[in-house]
Amino acid sequence: MKTLDLAVIPGDGIGKEVVPEALRVLDAIAEIHGGLAFNYTHYPWSSEYYIEHGRMMPENGLELIKESDAIFLGAVGDPSLVPDHISLAGLLLKIRREFEQVINVRPAKQLRGMVSPLSNPKNFDILIIRENSEGEYSSIGGRVHSGMDEVVVQNAVFTKRGVSRVMEYGFEIARKRGGHLTSATKSNGIAHSMPFWDEVFQEMAAGYPDVKTNSEHIDALSAFFVTRPETLDVVVASNLFGDILSDLGAAIMGSIGIAPAGNINLNGKFPSMFEPVHGSAPDIYGRGIANPIGQIWTAKMMLDHLGEPELGEIILNAIETTLEAGIKTGDIGGKSNTVEVTDAIIAAMKKQAGK
Ligand code: NAD
Ligand code: IPM
Ligand code: MN
Repeated sequence: MKTLDLAVIPGDGIGKEVVPEALRVLDAIAEIHGGLAFNYTHYPWSSEYYIEHGRMMPENGLELIKESDAIFLGAVGDPSLVPDHISLAGLLLKIRREFEQVINVRPAKQLRGMVSPLSNPKNFDILIIRENSEGEYSSIGGRVHSGMDEVVVQNAVFTKRGVSRVMEYGFEIARKRGGHLTSATKSNGIAHSMPFWDEVFQEMAAGYPDVKTNSEHIDALSAFFVTRPETLDVVVASNLFGDILSDLGAAIMGSIGIAPAGNINLNGKFPSMFEPVHGSAPDIYGRGIANPIGQIWTAKMMLDHLGEPELGEIILNAIETTLEAGIKTGDIGGKSNTVEVTDAIIAAMKKQAGK
């Protein structure tokens, strides 16, 4: 029996609704497989936890989850309880940084049964590779003076190591997919970081003569996501550009509620973390109507990462079968609730496996 230890952090808002549903899907996968078990350890770290304990996770929190095979996270953020910059820095961003999850992988592709808001979408299959540890998300900066004299400086940090490794990841994946790699830049307007980004991209491209490349300014590239997404394949982007592109990618798929993500640790010293692209959606929390597909597709990405791609495929197939059957939550035009969609996905998985 292969047992996978998962640290489960539902977090805030709809994270608490969609994570248990995705765990039901994982349980069903274990049942289908027969020789695989998941050992979940649940952590209630969240904004509510902060209200009780004055911090988002215990002091030894990272120690507690360090040995798990992967971390399965819902969403973090309840601005009615804790300001976002405190809750996110104390949990999600802390884990990403401390566990050196330097790459964030975010697919945006058309699923069977999904209706894109684009009026005539051709078949697109984009993989966003987002730098996940530095760039625009640095904590370097400060404020001086006050009133109309106040000045705030926010520094972005681009290291040769950080930029090279995210690009290398992008090139390797593009090579494996037999595809091409687009770099998201803004070297026409940003004086230091982006010309450097372009320079590293060009340097590295010389070592991958078989991978076609192009470089697009982030503003134009955003438009291409809408006007001709089928011409894009792997897209490598800085932390902030990748963040924005991944919501855009989710939008052209049909909803932010379905988009998955993996925060990948490359050096094997720490676990990777899997979470959907969406947030805690306070506007719909508590009604049982959140789309569970983002979290469930995220479970598929986690299984791929843990060496079980066939099981991941079963999940994605079942998601598509469910969408094709029109069993959908309200964000994608359906009338089903969170539990009903999950039930349908589990039933489709079992049917596919002949169980
Ligand atoms: P959001 O993704 O939570 O919500 C944006 C919109 O999409 C809302 O209208 C919401 O109802 C809808 N939506 C999101 N997920 C959905 C789902 N599964 N099913 C149906 N509809 C869904 O983004 P936001 O409103 O900018 O942020 C809300 C909170 O979440 C904030 O505290 C923010 O900081 C946090 N956040 C956390 C993460 C994370 O933990 N990874 C990511 C993004 C935002
Ligand atoms: C995401 C989120 C986070 C990010 C926020 C909540 C800090 O938007 O995971 O996409 O910007 O990385
Ligand atoms: Mn985001």
